[in-house]
Amino acid sequence: MSRLKGKVAFITGGGGGIGRATAERFAEEGAKVVVADIDSTAGETSAAAARQCAANGGGDAHFVRCDVTDRTSVEAAMTETVARFGKLDILHNNAGGAQPADGPVTETPDEEFWRAIKLDLYGTFLCSKVGIPHIIKAGGGAIINMSSIVALMALPGRDCYTMAKGGIAALTRSMAVEYAPHKIRVNAIAPSVTLTDRVKKMLDGSGNATERIAASHLLGLGQPIHIANMAVYLASDEAAITTGQVIPVDSGATIW
Ligand SMILES: NC(=O)c1ccc[n+]([C@@H]2O[C@H](COP(=O)([O-])OP(=O)(O)OC[C@H]3O[C@@H](n4cnc5c(N)ncnc54)[C@H](O)[C@@H]3O)[C@@H](O)[C@H]2O)c1
Repeated sequence: MSRLKGKVAFITGGGGGIGRATAERFAEEGAKVVVADIDSTAGETSAAAARQCAANGGGDAHFVRCDVTDRTSVEAAMTETVARFGKLDILHNNAGGAQPADGPVTETPDEEFWRAIKLDLYGTFLCSKVGIPHIIKAGGGAIINMSSIVALMALPGRDCYTMAKGGIAALTRSMAVEYAPHKIRVNAIAPSVTLTDRVKKMLDGSGNATERIAASHLLGLGQPIHIANMAVYLASDEAAITTGQVIPVDSGATIW
């Protein structure tokens, strides 16, 4: 379990759901992980769990409070990361997520558009802008953005979220070309429905949605660990020539 030994990773939204599962897997694989989250309680708890997973394999975890939509906050969190662990190799732009207020364009409040764009898209842009110079200084590394299958197929009823995740898929390809000369690989994961606490809560409030969605998932609905395992691969040197890709982890939901 040392696929990320010697690497330093910054995971936004690392306090919950997929981010927490990824923090645990990264630490288990020997990485020094910064759990960057706006929620201090969730972030501290996640960092403590990741430290447990690290056991004696060289991994470690530390919580830094960070709002990915605020430049001062992001700059301070990255500076603290480098001060604590010496460098930055892996940036996982994970913070984001749809909200029940989202819907078709004619029905969604403008505020929901700006919320989704600010958190998912601007947050990814800003953390990349601040993080990339640190990764270049480290001699290269990996960026893992968080897109969604809504960037790859029509999914009616989530238009603000869809726009943001589509933008992240496009940005992933451009950044892969721009930063390849600096040996930075840039990929995105495109999960389908993944049963984090937030998503479970949303599904619980929508009738038989879980059963309906599960019917299009060949191998069952996703769990955070499934996405975290893909993140480990993309962060590791095993993915040496994988860049610019938007990779579905979707139980086959996009193929039929
Ligand atoms: N769960 C799914 O079904 C699913 C599917 C496709 C894509 N995704 C994407 O995966 C990512 C993680 O989703 P999740 O379900 O684990 O979410 P989650 O809500 O369980 O966790 C998100 C974390 O981000 C933190 N956060 C929120 N705003 C923040 C901010 N401004 N700055 C820093 N941290 C902030 C929250 O405190 C929380 O800990 C998101 O980008 C989401 O869009 C999730």
